[in-house]
Amino acid sequence: MRSGTFARVLSIALLCVSAPRSHAAGQNIPAPVVPAVQGHYLTGCGGCHGIQGHSGRMAVPDLAGAVGWFLCAPSGRDYLIRLPNVAFANLSDEDLTAMMNFIVFTFGKTTVPKGSLPFTTQEIAAARQHPFQGTSMHIYRDAVVRDVIRACPAASPLHDYDLGQNRNEVHNGTSLPVGEAQHL
Ligand code: HEC
Repeated sequence: MRSGTFARVLSIALLCVSAPRSHAAGQNIPAPVVPAVQGHYLTGCGGCHGIQGHSGRMAVPDLAGAVGWFLCAPSGRDYLIRLPNVAFANLSDEDLTAMMNFIVFTFGKTTVPKGSLPFTTQEIAAARQHPFQGTSMHIYRDAVVRDVIRACPAASPLHDYDLGQNRNEVHNGTSLPVGEAQHL
């Protein structure tokens, strides 16, 4: 057999052997690789905040196109880490730092104030020692959001979530009318 013919026969033989395998249950299709930082977000946070950080901001605050604004004020930066879901996340300081930088600088990209520095592991380690423990997360957030909007007026959409919460609570008869939280 000439070597050209041999090569052709061999390649047909290989096709016969490999073709059915490549169609069998996607065996040869590489599994999508999710970087660790996104994996941590998806397992711990994505269920509430949405795979891409969009949640429908009246029920759970949107992270995408919003969360970067919190860096406008020191109290906002601090708030992000003192949130119980964040402070108590089952992640090392290093992994939590990587995930918060991913959330703020990737999801929040368009809203991060110019010149903002990423979180450092030391900063995260220190802030997560002081998780928010008061009775009303909502009133705490409201005060922080006011600080943030004073520093960056463009951040006013952050209040949409508070308005949604107030509306629900007024509807249930459990809270003050919209706007009253600021006086507490
Ligand atoms: C059970 C639903 C839920 C889970 C899970 C959750 N969050 Fe949240 N998150 C909320 C709610 C609700 C708020 C608004 C503040 C509050 O009431 O706690 C919030 C606020 C935030 C904020 C501030 C945004 C703002 O506009 O106030 C960030 C950042 C955040 N969460 C990140 C995370 C991260 C990171 C995780 C995973 C480690 C996570 N969240 C898990 C529901 C959730």
